[in-house]
Amino acid sequence: PPPNIANETAKLFHVNDVKDWDLLRASLIKFNNSSLEIPLVINGNRIYSKDNRDVYLQRNPANHQQVLAEVTQSTAQDVQDAITASMNVKKSWYTTPFYHRAAIFLKAADLISTKYRYDMLASCILGQGKTVQQAEIDCITEISDFLRFNVKYASELYSQQPTESSAGTWNSVEYRPLEGFVYAVSPFNFTAIAGNLTAAPALMGNTVVWKPSKYATLSNYLLYTVLEEAGLPPGVINFVPGDPELVTKEVVQHTDFNALHYTGSTKVFKSLNFQIQKNLTEDKYKNYPRIVGETGGKNFHLVHNTANIPNAIFNTIRGAFEYQGQKCSAASRLYLPESVSNEFLTNMIGILNESNSKFKPVNTSASALNGGDLHGFIGPVIHERSYDKLVNVIETAKNDPSLEILCGGKYDKSKGWFISPTVIKCNDPSHRFLKEEFFGPVLTVYEYPDDQFVELCKDIEKTSTYGLTGSIFARDRKIIEQASDLLRFSAGNFYINDKCTGAVVAQQWFGGSRMSGTNDKSGSGNILNRFVNIRNIKENF
Ligand code: SER
Repeated sequence: PPPNIANETAKLFHVNDVKDWDLLRASLIKFNNSSLEIPLVINGNRIYSKDNRDVYLQRNPANHQQVLAEVTQSTAQDVQDAITASMNVKKSWYTTPFYHRAAIFLKAADLISTKYRYDMLASCILGQGKTVQQAEIDCITEISDFLRFNVKYASELYSQQPTESSAGTWNSVEYRPLEGFVYAVSPFNFTAIAGNLTAAPALMGNTVVWKPSKYATLSNYLLYTVLEEAGLPPGVINFVPGDPELVTKEVVQHTDFNALHYTGSTKVFKSLNFQIQKNLTEDKYKNYPRIVGETGGKNFHLVHNTANIPNAIFNTIRGAFEYQGQKCSAASRLYLPESVSNEFLTNMIGILNESNSKFKPVNTSASALNGGDLHGFIGPVIHERSYDKLVNVIETAKNDPSLEILCGGKYDKSKGWFISPTVIKCNDPSHRFLKEEFFGPVLTVYEYPDDQFVELCKDIEKTSTYGLTGSIFARDRKIIEQASDLLRFSAGNFYINDKCTGAVVAQQWFGGSRMSGTNDKSGSGNILNRFVNIRNIKENF
């Protein structure tokens, strides 16, 4: 039976795991009432701004006057010191037996789920503009999953051996860490990703220089301190917040730079690749750097006229607007058959409008915290640059005859960076609104003639610059097979009758190709393979 829309909508506000609202409030109040000084951590030593370094401020995007953290910025020398520390500790770290290394990450997962649960949640809610539900998904569930499943995958990898040994000989392999260090560059939108970018290589015996996002430093520093409390030795992961260009330049010109583990924008990833290739051709490196990157997307929901429409509507609302569309996987283009388009849009926009009181910003102000409602669906976008870009998108839509704003299109920066969930209809299939990533709560809809379904699939496949996620909604098995066959590289994560966001570690291996990344699949064992140096040994008896 089709799902009941009212019930499904209620799930949007469902909070799974908050066991103690008072503890959450206490953590929120703690971060609300103080601006934390965040240091660099190099070889376990904390270096604060008072040592004559510049600082940057992390603000609450829902209340941009509120400073949550003052962050010390790394100098070029600090970055060099972090690299030296990571190289010096390498041997003692990788000769530490795997089960000891693994225990540290398993303990960190436990600390995140228990002792630091509410601080982690509060740091993501306030610092990154997450709802309680989205914070739980990210900085409790997904991060612990990454830490625990990486241990399982690493155990499996270490147990693999060549299967052939002839008489008189014996073959074996060693999965050793890379010879140099790993550079982890993490994004603002998922603290869990920061956890995986750093912990996955470290688990495999590597040492890491980590540049967190300026817009997630609070939760990322908390994560660092949890890893430390779990027993991570000094120097294994070095925390170097700072100017991205400065930090990157220092890192990627170093002879021992051996891998980039990156999640962020396509533009920055291309620039990093360019710098690395240039240094490589100038013989700067001892090893070919491994490049593992996950970048942008223009992810699609493609609805067929046999689809379960309520299911497709519910999933589209979640896929497009949860975390204000700031997931690299977020649905940002919707293809509807003409025969159901009207029904679909009327219902979807009805839910978005009628539920307006629930689609309100999460209120984390002090008065709301005293018994107030922490539930909500929509938070702010991350920063002014993003807000300005999205305002520009909305204003462009108002003036472009091939675009029509069906819902939303409102914005307000008086307190925080708020953009309302916006649905824009587009009558030109080659329009840039169906191609460019906006990274916000804006969904572009295109209506296609029902009998043009196959042509549409071919066109999406042919013209998509990105290849991250996509969904087909249909009940006809033949149609599902056809879409799955035609949409090969335009979605590295292909969903059938589900939203295109929310990959679960170990269940949906995550990552795409084309301009979306290197397809190395986080949440799988594949990613760990990128951070090992394999030596094969043959011995004759
Ligand atoms: N893995 C997340 C998702 O699938 C995005 O990074 O939504």
